[in-house]
Amino acid sequence: MDEPSPASVTDIRATARWLVREGRGILAADERTTTLAKRFAAVGIPSTPESQRAYREMLFGAEGIGDSLSGVILFDETIHQSTAAGVPFPAQLAAQGVLPGVKVDGGAQPLAGFPGEAVTEGLDGLRQRLAGYRALGARFAKWRAVIAVDAELPTTGCMLANAHALARYAALCQEAGLVPIVEPEVLMDGSHTLERCSTVTESMLRTLFTSLAAQRVELEAMILKPNMVTSGKACVTQASTASVAQATVECLRRTVPAAVPGIAFLSGGQRPIQATEHLDAINRLGPHPWRVTFSFARALQEDALSVWQGHESNIDAARQAFLQRAVCNAAASDGAYTADLEAG
Ligand code: G3H
Repeated sequence: MDEPSPASVTDIRATARWLVREGRGILAADERTTTLAKRFAAVGIPSTPESQRAYREMLFGAEGIGDSLSGVILFDETIHQSTAAGVPFPAQLAAQGVLPGVKVDGGAQPLAGFPGEAVTEGLDGLRQRLAGYRALGARFAKWRAVIAVDAELPTTGCMLANAHALARYAALCQEAGLVPIVEPEVLMDGSHTLERCSTVTESMLRTLFTSLAAQRVELEAMILKPNMVTSGKACVTQASTASVAQATVECLRRTVPAAVPGIAFLSGGQRPIQATEHLDAINRLGPHPWRVTFSFARALQEDALSVWQGHESNIDAARQAFLQRAVCNAAASDGAYTADLEAG
């Protein structure tokens, strides 16, 4: 049976299912200007408005991305930009069979009264901004909350504040005809163990789904974008792939209702191949009640960025590196990744 084209998938429940369908995942290319400048600096690429635009054109113009990607999350500036030939990025993506989405949160700000913790802002005026993005062709949106972990954190106050904001955002998206990607990221920063990450992630997801219900968010028309359950980056004992997969599946099964059509993980600072291996191992523990796929930024882009180096002559090789990661992750989303795929 032929797949429906993205243009023919119009209601938000069908769009959510389409975004997480078999063999596909989502590229997060929604880095703020300052974040992308830091990523450029790390590999020695000068950051200008034009170099950032050209970088996005390099990624989105890779031929065949629609075979592994269902959607791309754009930044506000990017959704207004075009290719050098004048094609708006949302139209360029749609022509590749990929749905454009957009990050709509205003970023994490210190949470008053809670030292070391943050709440994501951006609800003021969101209804109007969402209508504007819908008119530009966006079909889905993203809002990211960040949850810091140490021996005392996170506090209940921080989890409640972020869950409430995520739920208000999700309800507004659905009202506007956009699928909300709901991202409660428990950070990998720190020396915490896998077990501590599991406890915190479980608690955050329980808090989140209580808020989503209170704000009448339609679970069938959203996508959850959580962290995998991993050891903290500085933990002396790093959990094995099998342990990460087992702990992640246990945590999600305890907390995520089966009505949610899909879970699309963030990569959170994992090495690119490690993120692919974890996703694959998680899917090999299936079948799961939801589709389980990727919505990576760093783990999809890192290799392509270092090959590109800001030079036009490297575009083909950079696109190859990008497609390579997309294909490997698409296979992992079906639990069908093998190391041979890394050979290209
Ligand atoms: O908000 C974060 C991105 O959507 C995912 O980024 O895969 O680099 O963690 P990451």
